[in-house]
Amino acid sequence: METLTEPAVIDQMTPIPFRVRSVREELSHTFTLELEPPNGGLEFRPGQFTMIYAFGIGEVPISISSSSSKATTILQTIRRTGAVTHALGRLKSGDYVGIRGPFGTPWPMQQIKGRDLLIIGGGIGLAPLRPAIYQAIENRSDYERLVVLYGTRTPDDILFARELREWGERTDITTMITVDAADRGWNGAVGVVTRLIGRVGFDPANTTALVCGPEIMMTVTAERLIDGSSVAPEDIYVTMERNMKCAIGVCGHCQFGGKFICTNGAVFQYPAVAELFDIKGV
Ligand SMILES: Cc1cc2nc3c(=O)[nH]c(=O)nc-3n(C[C@H](O)[C@H](O)[C@H](O)COP(=O)(O)OP(=O)(O)OC[C@H]3O[C@@H](n4cnc5c(N)ncnc54)[C@H](O)[C@@H]3O)c2cc1C
Ligand code: FES
Repeated sequence: METLTEPAVIDQMTPIPFRVRSVREELSHTFTLELEPPNGGLEFRPGQFTMIYAFGIGEVPISISSSSSKATTILQTIRRTGAVTHALGRLKSGDYVGIRGPFGTPWPMQQIKGRDLLIIGGGIGLAPLRPAIYQAIENRSDYERLVVLYGTRTPDDILFARELREWGERTDITTMITVDAADRGWNGAVGVVTRLIGRVGFDPANTTALVCGPEIMMTVTAERLIDGSSVAPEDIYVTMERNMKCAIGVCGHCQFGGKFICTNGAVFQYPAVAELFDIKGV
């Protein structure tokens, strides 16, 4: 096992300053940072995350929410929860953050070519899925059916609403949105996102599902796909969110049993982590 003083480890532990090009408020508690890498680009794959350091405050894992084919800047969509994410939310254009990464396993976009792609997001879980959606759209002929299902609390909590609308207008993507609680202006579906699964067409034997959202939503969605639609458990991919420190498999902070969430994940096949969903992070 590597130690914290080895040169390769020191490199990966050293944040690189990225300039904030823009800050976009998405929802009342959610914003997107557009970040400029110092050397013109950052290569990453859909589903990967970086460690973002708010100088003087702390460092947190955040998924990349932009297209991996347009990597001259990256987007990271963040919900304000505590000290670090609030500090990141106070940044202005021209400020700097420290970035390490990208880290973690990607969505299996290469391995699943030729299959139906069922992408199911809950709340801010749409952000880590968006690069996979972009990749499928940019390489549309690589996949058969493309279905995007999104559930969130209220119509005001719909993330990336404009893009969801644009995807909904395309004939080569099936896009459906549901909210837990409707308001007067909402004409769409009401209820949990799993209710949408029975309303869309896909071939269970040839489907891969990418699922990201609160753990309870991922569990219920995976079980619905397995029991209700006969999707094979190993064809369902989910993400694990646990507190992290090093993100390179050294500190053990994210370790559960034999798995490090930071290096063996955060994207996992469902059977590999189903039992971990009940265990709260430290
Ligand atoms: C691989 C990975 C990718 C992530 N991607 C995103 C993303 O794209 N956008 C985003 O907004 N957030 C993302 N998160 C969650 C984000 O890292 C946490 O919200 C952040 O660390 C909170 O830090 P804080 O200092 O602001 O709040 P803290 O003061 O640390 O925490 C505030 C509250 O959030 C809870 N919390 C802290 N960390 C986590 C966590 N990892 N998961 C769930 N709850 C947590 C705490 O228990 C507490 O209730 C990701 C986490 C991981 C592990
Ligand atoms: S965060 Fe250090 S081992 Fe995963």
